[in-house]
Amino acid sequence: MCGIVGYVGYRDALDVVVDALRRMEYRGYDSAGVAIVDGSGALAVERKAGRLANLEAELDQTGRAAYAGATGMGHTRWATHGAPTDRNAHPHRDVTGKVAVVHNGIIENFAPLRKELEDAGVELNSDTDTEVTVHLVARAYAEGPTAGDFVASALSVLRRLEGAFTLVFAHADHPDRIVAARRSTPLVVGVGQGEMFVASDVTAFIEHTREAVELGQDQVVVITADGYTVTDFDGDADVVTKPFTIDWDLAAAEKGGHEFFMLKEIEEQPAGVADTLIGHYADGQVVLDEQRWSDQELREIDKVFVVACGSSYHAGLLAKYAIEHWTRIPVEVELASEFRYRDPVLDRSTLVVAISQSGETADTLEAVRHAKDQKARVLAICNTNGAQIPREADAVLYTRTGPEIGVASTKAFLAQITANYLVGLALAQARGVKYPDEVAAEFNHLELMPKLVAKVLESAPQVRAIAREFAHQSTVLFLGRHVGYPVALEGALKLKELAYIHAEGFASGELKHGPIALIEEGVPVIVVMPSPKGRAVLHSKLLSNIREVQARGARTIVIAEEGDDTVRPFADHLIEIPAAPTLYQPLLSTVPLQIFAAEVAMQRGYDIDKPRNLAKSVTVE
Ligand code: F6R
Repeated sequence: MCGIVGYVGYRDALDVVVDALRRMEYRGYDSAGVAIVDGSGALAVERKAGRLANLEAELDQTGRAAYAGATGMGHTRWATHGAPTDRNAHPHRDVTGKVAVVHNGIIENFAPLRKELEDAGVELNSDTDTEVTVHLVARAYAEGPTAGDFVASALSVLRRLEGAFTLVFAHADHPDRIVAARRSTPLVVGVGQGEMFVASDVTAFIEHTREAVELGQDQVVVITADGYTVTDFDGDADVVTKPFTIDWDLAAAEKGGHEFFMLKEIEEQPAGVADTLIGHYADGQVVLDEQRWSDQELREIDKVFVVACGSSYHAGLLAKYAIEHWTRIPVEVELASEFRYRDPVLDRSTLVVAISQSGETADTLEAVRHAKDQKARVLAICNTNGAQIPREADAVLYTRTGPEIGVASTKAFLAQITANYLVGLALAQARGVKYPDEVAAEFNHLELMPKLVAKVLESAPQVRAIAREFAHQSTVLFLGRHVGYPVALEGALKLKELAYIHAEGFASGELKHGPIALIEEGVPVIVVMPSPKGRAVLHSKLLSNIREVQARGARTIVIAEEGDDTVRPFADHLIEIPAAPTLYQPLLSTVPLQIFAAEVAMQRGYDIDKPRNLAKSVTVE
């Protein structure tokens, strides 16, 4: 979950690397560091705990001229092994100061390797799992069969490592090259003219090139200014890589005039939903991407598991309502972190849908692996092309919202709901439980959603004004029923992660089984009302629940369909959303909750793109 970059070319490497770190800071902001090789055998390293700004201040204080060179690497850290301090910040160097490394992931066998080094008298300077690799490369370079050969030394060490890692090595005696390797964590190569890049994420280099190469598992790339070579860890060049052209523009990865990425991403939701639908309805049929199963195989599916974490899990809860309703196939939704420890019953007729914006979440990846081991069919719903989860899944449905930089999921969440519904419709169609005109009608509802989401966004000023009134509360409760329940959970998650407020979402039917004890004078309760035109019983039950909390002194903020006058007497604040069939309502009712949470957090002075203790992709369990 760290961000890493390596560069060899003709520009000032420090500028390239620091710019890249700025774009990748969302991947972790516990510390940042750079290493620059100057061409005359010197390696300059600077690293600092905290945000990139701390590193930049340090670089300015020393004078950027001290970091001259056209080869360099950088790192932005989300701490796993070792506290977020200067000494644990990357890059790490060997004892001669000639070799540097940056790392994303975990070296699982670092303890015996560390002991081996300590027994040999090497003094380690950090508490990280990473540092062992740089000493091992330096020792392999100093003596033995790989002596004097930087690439062979790195390969010899890579073969000894266990775990998940992307590693980038530089050597002061070889200023013309950088060696990078990956196992289970991301690494892409950026191919420029007279310059090459390696990075965790294409946002690091899209300013300079749009040509990229995705590396496979256990591959090593050596970049020089003029080109790159890829091998496996044995140095064998007979490997398959995947060149691609980046179709995101730079503006898509930047803030587009907003103070925070998250605000831009909230506004991009109509486009995210629309783009996720593109190409998925043709010749009267819903079609999925990279879907290798025949209709016959889809008919054999007798159970669906949805596995995901956080907001993606909430999107998964919504999948259950739609898929069961449309297909009559039982659906279980499970937190990915619990799934494989529970010994779930899976076989070839089970479809496991793994939802992950990043495609890197370790728990979801392990759930995918567990499902595959049990012979289940795995479909990934993912926003990141070529990430590990879609690579390991049997089939992929991409959400097409562009890069989501704000740590809190917004546009990816709406796109995930959309993608889930496509899966439900594809299954219903393959099994013949819905007539083609019924599938067409549901797809039509989905196609109408971007316009309606845009309409909800028009109410942002009203939602922000309400949020300002509640910005200094210590507890906020969220209530919903049916599809409103996952929305309530999502609203509470957004508020707690952004504004650091105690927030809880409840199925409103559970209120009287305990949570109502939390209601006292002035407690804000946000209620997600179902449509009065949908199932009347849901609406009337929730209406009773609002009355119950209001009678006990709660201040109510009610999200309800336009024209639903029955709620007015019980709403201290009413936020109206356009009418939509019940299953589609979450695509609308979630949006005011995102805006509410963002505004409350900003009122409290927090950075909504980088909530404390969180990182965008959680690549450790
Ligand atoms: C919350 C949020 C997280 C993610 C979760 C899963 O706003 O963003 O809860 O949804 O960490 O991440 P992905 O979808 O990348 O697997």
